[in-house]
Amino acid sequence: MLILVSSRWLHLTMMSGNGHYHKNKQPCLMVLKETLIRHGFTFESETDTEVIPKFAKFVFDKAHDEEGEQTVTFAQVVTEVMRQLEGAYSLIFKSPRYPNELIACKRGSTLILGVKELTDANSGTFSHDDKTFTTIGKPKEFFFSSDLCAIVEHTKNYLAIEDDEVVHIKDGCVSILKFDYGKEKPASVQRALSVLEMEVEQIKKGNYDHFMQKEIHEQPHSLTTTMRGRLRANDVVLGGLKDHLKTIRHSRRIIFIGCGTSYNAALAARPFMEELSGIPVTLELASDLLDRQGVMYREDTAVFVSQSGETADTLLALEYALEHGALCVGITNTVGSTLARKTHCGVHINAGCEIGVASTKAYTSQIVVMVMMALAIGADKISTQSKREAIINSLPDLPNKVSEVLKLDNEMKDLAESLIEVQSLLVFGRGYNYATALEGALKVKEVALTHSEGMLAGEMKHGPLALVDETLPIIVIATRDACFSKQQSVIQQLHARKGRLIVMCSNGDASSVCPSESCRVIEVPQVADCLQPVINIVPLQLLAYHLTVLRGYDVDQPRNLAKSVTTQ
Ligand code: G6P
Repeated sequence: MLILVSSRWLHLTMMSGNGHYHKNKQPCLMVLKETLIRHGFTFESETDTEVIPKFAKFVFDKAHDEEGEQTVTFAQVVTEVMRQLEGAYSLIFKSPRYPNELIACKRGSTLILGVKELTDANSGTFSHDDKTFTTIGKPKEFFFSSDLCAIVEHTKNYLAIEDDEVVHIKDGCVSILKFDYGKEKPASVQRALSVLEMEVEQIKKGNYDHFMQKEIHEQPHSLTTTMRGRLRANDVVLGGLKDHLKTIRHSRRIIFIGCGTSYNAALAARPFMEELSGIPVTLELASDLLDRQGVMYREDTAVFVSQSGETADTLLALEYALEHGALCVGITNTVGSTLARKTHCGVHINAGCEIGVASTKAYTSQIVVMVMMALAIGADKISTQSKREAIINSLPDLPNKVSEVLKLDNEMKDLAESLIEVQSLLVFGRGYNYATALEGALKVKEVALTHSEGMLAGEMKHGPLALVDETLPIIVIATRDACFSKQQSVIQQLHARKGRLIVMCSNGDASSVCPSESCRVIEVPQVADCLQPVINIVPLQLLAYHLTVLRGYDVDQPRNLAKSVTTQ
């Protein structure tokens, strides 16, 4: 996201907010703000963003008063500002006082420099001439972005700017300086450009009306790319983890940490991870872990799950885990993201660019990566070998099963039409599909703006049953697994209280699970229990999508929500 802020003197673009990483540190921007107010500055907003350009002006004025006109360079102003900032930020400075100059810098957050019309990408090393650093190939355009997806339609040549680097563009030439707190002057550095491995089609809607719709329908493909090159005969190879498997196997605990859909994906993977690893697996919502300052040991393996790799709470939790000495593993869709860079090891989910705010294809790819991770961790256990091998051998067929379940599209549209007026919706799941209930309800909530709750069916009698009547639609997930008979009993009890039932069951089970003609059925293909959440979420994604379109809401950018929540 780009927020453009202008002060009279200095224009500053701030990408992603200034999240203060260290909970107990004094928020430095508040201190800076107080200083500026004492020097006569006034503020129009409460945002962090406004403080930074005003502080830059303060630095400039001070240097100007002391040293006289033009003695202070733009880079000196910016590095002095950086010296005073704490926390995570990406900043782009531009000023009429320094025409034809632009400076970008970052700490914590991701900042990408795209370089267009570089004739020979491989020779795109910044090289030295007498005074400045210039780019070989004389690029004509530069792009700054917090996300690689945003530059792919302009160029494939990019530089992932590192923490404390200062990128200075002047008269079409680029120089890169490395800022060091201990030194007055930043040193020049040379960096090579990378070539983006992404096609522009990935960020276009193609024949679809919305990105969410496209992303739901491309799941057979995204799951294929997630698994590509990672499956062997009776084995799974995750290059980013292989050197750490021994440490993980000796962990005291595996803790999954994430927010929103990424947390739900971890919840879906937990039972299998527990079964195959034999290690206690716990789950943490990143914000809750931070609020509690939860217990964490150096013998723990903390697995951070994040599509963007930039969610503020997840990154703060990562910092917390690093401070406590845990092994930190990242699972992300975003190469070069802060999560990917700061964890000890990890796995990219390779689902391709996800643009719709509501996560769909990243969710299913995250589950598959965590299942593969469990398979890799469990490779040395004899007792689960036959189950392990059966799942490895069934994985290549999973995309076909997802293609099959996508054929329910029209049926889900029809179901959405019948729910268009409802105020509220409940989804009951348990076991592997407790996560499906939470994630299905989250999809409906976030895009269709309809109140919906995912509930653990085992808790039904401890409150939710009081809500049951003839009007409230309740989706019960009752596909075949170890919890099937318990879910049959839940259906019977809801039916006895005249609940408005929608049952999701395995193909061929409709007549045995549905208690009456009025009960609607969603029949889905059956797969291995640990992979069933990948199948079961798809009809609920489609339902949320169609409900949103029918209600006339914005599918890809739901009210008040952001794709990547980079501030606390
Ligand atoms: C936001 C998005 C969700 C996403 C969550 C976590 O709330 O709207 O779709 O699940 O952040 O994002 P992450 O990038 O960490 O997976």
